Amino acid sequence: MGDDEPSPRNEVRVDQDGPLVLRGRIRHTVQQGQPPAEYTQVSLCRCGASGSKPFCDGSHGRIGFADPGRCASPPEPAAQSAEGELVLKPIANGPLRIDGWFELTTADGQRRVCGDKTWLCRCGASGNKPFCDGTHKRTGFTA
Ligand code: FES
Repeated sequence: MGDDEPSPRNEVRVDQDGPLVLRGRIRHTVQQGQPPAEYTQVSLCRCGASGSKPFCDGSHGRIGFADPGRCASPPEPAAQSAEGELVLKPIANGPLRIDGWFELTTADGQRRVCGDKTWLCRCGASGNKPFCDGTHKRTGFTA
């Protein structure tokens, strides 16, 4: 497999104190009416401070974002393969919606298949990271 070829399995890795790292067949509609961007790997902000959201620009280090990258309330594992396409849909002033199936890998090495519609926190304030719990509304997150 070359560098530009997508991983056969979709993965979302939660880095301790850092971003979400996605691998697989990833599609992102940047602007309505424009062709979608496609990636085989991309790092996405989950601290809320990036200047180039939805992408990580390293701001988590500048603001001292601290999160162990574990999953406090994991969903039931799905009897599904983590294959196919992942479609990124950042919600205005809210979470990152991912359509598709992927293996979630937390910083402590837990793995489970999630999908097919998942809302991940990108404001940095959820009490149930890496998932959105609605806290972005209370904190007035804008993106
Ligand atoms: S995006 Fe962070 S709680 Fe919803």
